[in-house]
Amino acid sequence: KVYTDYFFYEPAFNTHDGGYIPLEATDVAPQKLKVPELLTPDKETDTDMYYTVISQAGEANIMPGKATQTWGYNQSLLGKTILFKRGKNIHVTVKNELPELTTYHWHGLNVPGDIDGGCHTPVYPGESKVLNFKCDQPAATLWLHAHPCPSTAEQVWHGLATAVVVKDEHEATFPIPRNYGVDDIPVILQDRHFDENNQWDYKADYDPDGVQGPTAMINGTVNPYFDVTTQKVRLRLLDGANRREWRLHFSDDLEFTQIAGDGSLLTHPVKFTHLMITCAERQEIVVDFGKYKDGDEVVLYSDDVAIMHFRIHDYEKDDSVIPDTLFEMNTPEVTKDTAVRHVVMSGMDEEVALDGKKFDMERIDAKQTMGNCEIWEVTNTNDCEGGMVHPFHMHGCQFEVLDRNGHAPYPNETGLKDTIGVNPDETVRFKAWFDHPGIFMYHCHIIEHEDGGMMAQIQVDDPENPQEFHITKMDEL
Ligand code: C2O
Ligand code: CU
Ligand code: CU
Repeated sequence: KVYTDYFFYEPAFNTHDGGYIPLEATDVAPQKLKVPELLTPDKETDTDMYYTVISQAGEANIMPGKATQTWGYNQSLLGKTILFKRGKNIHVTVKNELPELTTYHWHGLNVPGDIDGGCHTPVYPGESKVLNFKCDQPAATLWLHAHPCPSTAEQVWHGLATAVVVKDEHEATFPIPRNYGVDDIPVILQDRHFDENNQWDYKADYDPDGVQGPTAMINGTVNPYFDVTTQKVRLRLLDGANRREWRLHFSDDLEFTQIAGDGSLLTHPVKFTHLMITCAERQEIVVDFGKYKDGDEVVLYSDDVAIMHFRIHDYEKDDSVIPDTLFEMNTPEVTKDTAVRHVVMSGMDEEVALDGKKFDMERIDAKQTMGNCEIWEVTNTNDCEGGMVHPFHMHGCQFEVLDRNGHAPYPNETGLKDTIGVNPDETVRFKAWFDHPGIFMYHCHIIEHEDGGMMAQIQVDDPENPQEFHITKMDEL
């Protein structure tokens, strides 16, 4: 079966927002897609990997003419891709060379709260910190982004976001592309408004329902093309936009196969011609260009705007078949005694709230015991008329989606997820459990909604090792 629809509620697509800014076709000449380099470890042994990640300000040539003032990790805009190998002890020195405090949030990484990089772990200008943790989760595409309260949105808009790739031995057994930079690339989808001086003026473009711009930017490249030199290419799609959801399709309605979601491979690959991704989600797809030949061009669109071009070159024939089963879910059983937790996302604009409240760094909103599985029921009380799809995200865990308003989840919501778009008038249920203690945020990933208070925090206790967690107070910042 090949899916040809976007699944989400059409009336709730961002295109229906009052404040929607449509993507515009650009007149910038095609530029080679920037594929971020892999960050070189400072050192790697059989058991350990050491990295240094520096937040820095700089400028990037994105548009013709003046350079844009930007922020990034180890480079001026966005960052190098960070590779973690499952089973290794990871040591990351994070360093803040920005003029303001930031945090280093590992979106999707299963680590204790003090490593997670939510708003309780600020790194002040000039400071550095060493994070030590074990990478123990399935192969996936995760990401690193800033998460200071309440300026996550503005810092991400400046460019503080980069891909994190987890590799494991299971994924390595499948015939899927994994030659990084050649047939396996991150595709970070963002949109920006460039002012007449080619700058991003966050304050001028501010919208409490999420800042948008008319120009699509992929890996920091406007109007990119990618040179295809293999029959199959794996795109690690990441919606790194503050607000924009992307409805993707190729020219000729070319079919593609989704193999992975946020936190793992899908249990079974799923074929699409059209695919929607909401903020902070990841979808890994394999595109087979086998019916094209040297000199052809394939276009990737979001809605009806071309956002990226694939220039086909000579390639070797590749008959490999993606197997039917990619991943087995070994998640805790649900029984009639499994606790059920309700979460409500409500409001729009300045009125957004989570469980009727605005986020407060000093208030613990919920508690869950480490290792215990609970059913989370997340409701979006917006209506289809004025509402939107709120992408709900949890820190510190990967969950298993059970249903949407009692119906089966979308076919590409198998495998582990950490972010899920919830339609207006809908309740999504999933199983969630934590492997590590700490304080973890959960929130809408329209980043302005998160900063605007559609966020709460949960304390996860390890009964065998009770501890006091550090709570940073707003006025300490
Ligand atoms: Cu992508 Cu609270 O994070
Ligand atoms: Cu996160
Ligand atoms: Cu929202």
